[in-house]
Amino acid sequence: MGRLVAVSNRTGDLGRKTQTGGLAVGIVDALKSSGGMWVGWSGEVADDADASNAQLETYENVTSLTVSLSVQEHENYYLGFANKVLWPSFHYRLDLMDYRTEFAKCYAAVNRKFADTILPHLRNDDLIWVHDYHLIPLASELRRQGSAHRIGFFLHIPFPSVDVFSAVPRHGWLRECLLQYDLIGFQTKNDVQNFCRYLKEHSEAKFLSPNLIKWKGRMISIGNFPIGIDAGRFSAMSHESDDGIEFERTRRSRLKRFQVISADRLDYSKGLPQRMKAFRKFLDSYPEYLGRAEYLQIASPSREDVTAYADIRAELEQLTGAVNGKYADFNWAPIQYINRNIPREKLALLFRCSLIGLITPLRDGMNLVAKEYIAAQDAEDPGILILSKFAGAAEELEDALIVNPYDTNEVAQAIRRAAIMPMEERRTRYGNLISQISDHDAQLWQDEYLAALRSVQTDAPRSA
Ligand code: G6P
Repeated sequence: MGRLVAVSNRTGDLGRKTQTGGLAVGIVDALKSSGGMWVGWSGEVADDADASNAQLETYENVTSLTVSLSVQEHENYYLGFANKVLWPSFHYRLDLMDYRTEFAKCYAAVNRKFADTILPHLRNDDLIWVHDYHLIPLASELRRQGSAHRIGFFLHIPFPSVDVFSAVPRHGWLRECLLQYDLIGFQTKNDVQNFCRYLKEHSEAKFLSPNLIKWKGRMISIGNFPIGIDAGRFSAMSHESDDGIEFERTRRSRLKRFQVISADRLDYSKGLPQRMKAFRKFLDSYPEYLGRAEYLQIASPSREDVTAYADIRAELEQLTGAVNGKYADFNWAPIQYINRNIPREKLALLFRCSLIGLITPLRDGMNLVAKEYIAAQDAEDPGILILSKFAGAAEELEDALIVNPYDTNEVAQAIRRAAIMPMEERRTRYGNLISQISDHDAQLWQDEYLAALRSVQTDAPRSA
């Protein structure tokens, strides 16, 4: 069986100390179990970053091949086309989209550079798995240079509705690039429906079955493959230290206090201001929780060179100040706001110590934090997950309290419902959620995706 070559914009920390962001978490889990090669950007911006600067390193059974970006590539490809055009539009924020021709040109050029970097390291029977919106044109660049490999694509973020996608400049080109893959994978059924509807309205692709199309003589499979986590590993991590657990037990039972937790990249798609307003509404509506409910928001810094990210940060600082100014007392503050990366072990423990996980993105491909929050709970005294209906995870995690993140009142009510939820109901919901997460884990995601990629009928001869 061929080796797995995973390609993503960013290679993550294979030691997994501080990662947030579903993509890196998912790929690390997948590659560690099967071994293979991970190709991606090193995170470094250099003055003369050409393909020959690529670096090979090995960590246990995974080889990483890292590419660096020049200042201009970072500006136009990563910050520009990827994060000022594709990210906002795929998250339904056309108002934040900032399209420029030089962004699109550089996006194509960096994809060519990735192809140039990878090709000399490929073996004939490698299976290539390309991840996320930064690398949509990679298959067409590899094919242009003669690659006959099976190449799959997986989109970690939502695929938007037809009207939204067709408003993205160069959407026709993006479509042609996507159709160079053998398998196009999405997180949810909803994403698959959006994409298929778009193809039906905007292309000549012929549907042979709901998930199989023929286009220019080639067969292309389309499917949903919800990404999972290694629940056992995360749970073990949450038990690595018991610091704080006794305090939490005392807090819950004797002091009648509890903690609500959220952990996100600081991104406008995550709905952080709406969530803070919902927590404020909860305190306004139920003053008996003043001094008893604490909301801990961990927001890891992200894409700070993009204006929309700086704006959301300023808004959050202002909101935290306003809520704390109104309600804090000498020995209690309603909101603790941490704007830095937290080690994963610490995060796992904090999840375990929190009665409520409040995960309310306005749009999210999947949201693995929701799954991690569940994995970290103790079966005897489990916490409650409040989850946005616009997170991909809501398609699977039906036993969470599902809310509309735009409806501040509904979210405030859900916090209240969780705060008084009887233990029996908590355990039942947790039982269903943990089975779902453990059964549909990172391994299954990878196995199902790769099995589907291996079984695509390719008309043209392929080497794998
Ligand atoms: C999301 C995206 C990933 C991305 C991650 C972190 O999870 O789907 O592709 O790597 O955010 O964002 P960054 O821009 O720092 O790579």
